[in-house]
Amino acid sequence: MIIGFGSDLCNIERIQASLDRFGARFEQRVFTPVEQAKAASRPFTRAATYAKRFAAKEAFSKAVGTGFKAGVFMRDIGVVNAPSGAPTLALTGGARARLDAMTPPGHSIIVHLTLTDDFPWAQAFIILEARPLSESPYDEHDRIRAPR
Ligand SMILES: CC(C)(COP(=O)(O)OP(=O)(O)OC[C@H]1O[C@@H](n2cnc3c(N)ncnc32)[C@H](O)[C@@H]1OP(=O)(O)O)[C@@H](O)C(=O)NCCC(=O)NCCS
Repeated sequence: MIIGFGSDLCNIERIQASLDRFGARFEQRVFTPVEQAKAASRPFTRAATYAKRFAAKEAFSKAVGTGFKAGVFMRDIGVVNAPSGAPTLALTGGARARLDAMTPPGHSIIVHLTLTDDFPWAQAFIILEARPLSESPYDEHDRIRAPR
C-alpha cells in the first residue's frame, strides 16, 4: 500500500551558484559522504548530480508530509545507488525516525525513487510503499526496511 509520495524540481544553476558561493560548507551541510563521493567522481556533472539529490531530499520531505521540520534534515536523507545504478534513499536521524513513525505495525517501507535531469532542471519522484514484513525482500542497496 502506498503511504506517501512526493516530487521536486531543482534548478541545476542554483546548485552551481551555491557550490560557487559556499563550496565545501554547502556540500557538507546538505549532502552525505556517499553523495559527495558520487558528485566528486563526476567533475563535469557535479552540480547536476547534486541537484538530483537535492530534489530527492525535497521530494522525501513531502512524501513524509513534514517538509524540513520536525527534526527532518537534508543530511539525514541520502541517495544511494544499487550496482545497477537504480537509486533509493538511506535514512538516518530524524528522517529515519519520521519514516519509522509512519510505518504500520508488521510492515516495512520500500522507498521507490526515480531521478532524472535535463539542464537546467533536475527532478525526483518518491513513492513510499508499506509492505507486509512477510512479503518484504531485504537488500541493503535497493530497499529501505523500517520494521516496527
Ligand atoms: C538507466 C538509464 C536509462 C538512465 O538514462 P539517462 O538518460 O542516462 O539518465 P537520466 O539523466 O534520465 O537519469 C539518470 C538517473 O537514472 C537513475 N538510474 C540509473 N540507472 C538506473 C536503473 N538501472 N534503474 C533505475 N534508475 C536508474 C540514476 O538515479 C541516475 O542518476 P544518478 O546516477 O545521479 O543517481 C541509462 O543509464 C541506461 O540505460 N543504463 C543501462 C544500464 C547500464 O548502463 N548499467 C550500468 C551498470 S550495470
